[in-house]
Amino acid sequence: MNQGKTSAMKKIAFLTSGGDSPGMNACIRSIVKSCLNRNIIPVGIRDGFKGLMAGDFWEMNYSDVDNIIQFGGTILGTARSEDFKNPEKRKDAILKLVENNIDGLIVVGGDGTFTGATILAKEIGIAIIGIPGTIDNDIFGTDHSIGYDTALNTVIEAVDKIRDTATSHHRVFFVEVMGKHAGFIALNSAIATGAEMVLVPEEVTDIQLLVQQIKSQNQGKRSSIIIVAEGDDAGGSLDVINKVRPFLENYDLRSSVLGHIQRGGSPTAFDRILATRMGDFAVQLLLDGKSNLMIGSVGDKLQTISILDGINKKIDFDTEKLTLLSRMLTSK
Ligand code: F6P
Repeated sequence: MNQGKTSAMKKIAFLTSGGDSPGMNACIRSIVKSCLNRNIIPVGIRDGFKGLMAGDFWEMNYSDVDNIIQFGGTILGTARSEDFKNPEKRKDAILKLVENNIDGLIVVGGDGTFTGATILAKEIGIAIIGIPGTIDNDIFGTDHSIGYDTALNTVIEAVDKIRDTATSHHRVFFVEVMGKHAGFIALNSAIATGAEMVLVPEEVTDIQLLVQQIKSQNQGKRSSIIIVAEGDDAGGSLDVINKVRPFLENYDLRSSVLGHIQRGGSPTAFDRILATRMGDFAVQLLLDGKSNLMIGSVGDKLQTISILDGINKKIDFDTEKLTLLSRMLTSK
């Protein structure tokens, strides 16, 4: 097995894993083209680590990635594989990589994906590179993960539409957005939609304070939008409504859970460009003999950090943006 030496890099495998995110196809396209242009055989692995264990490999060509840059999802498929955590079952993955003479592996996904790849790298010494691909944008070492910008814009479009109904019916809408344990989609969509409030897991939610804020915000206003991150300590949008309802009897409270529409759709220009740059850079890093790195984009410059830092280090939540949101309110 190649340890990342330039000369021996003949076959590069890659997979998408965890939740799909818009831009993953652009990344696959970039990896394939980047490999073929350097006389390396690109091998796509279907359905993430599940497909790796099953040996579901696909030697790809230019035509396989024709006209995919504009599509959401991932043509390789993805999965959340519990089996991969089992060392016995992981032996199948190792076997398949060896049998197929794979010299380097690129994984596109979130921290769970990187953890899986790191374990593999330790067990067989294969060179690995991680590319952050998740709508949650919760990966340390990059300003943006692939898919986040598209998801954020999807949320904004949906909330703008909900605002029409909220205003027409004088309603208070609790809009639940994704983000797993992180509040980045929630906070930034709240700013971009002019939401009256946001509930994020990074801050403790005080129900009584929330009730007071809803009352004061509604004086003279026709509607309120409260963005609720799915991981908030008070629960999802319906849980929050159940907690505030006894104190807001005269208010028309509604919940809207945006769900998986946030993960789909055509990637924005930003995500397409980011994904194309990261895919190409990942191939270059493997050729340069690099391994155990995660690619990040900081200030629009691509950089690398240790993949372990990408997994373990936590991003500081931008509390200044919370303050900004509160300064945008019409009343205190
Ligand atoms: O990590 C991406 C994400 O969409 C999270 O925001 C969400 O909590 C989770 O995946 C949902 O996963 P699934 O589609 O497996 O239910």
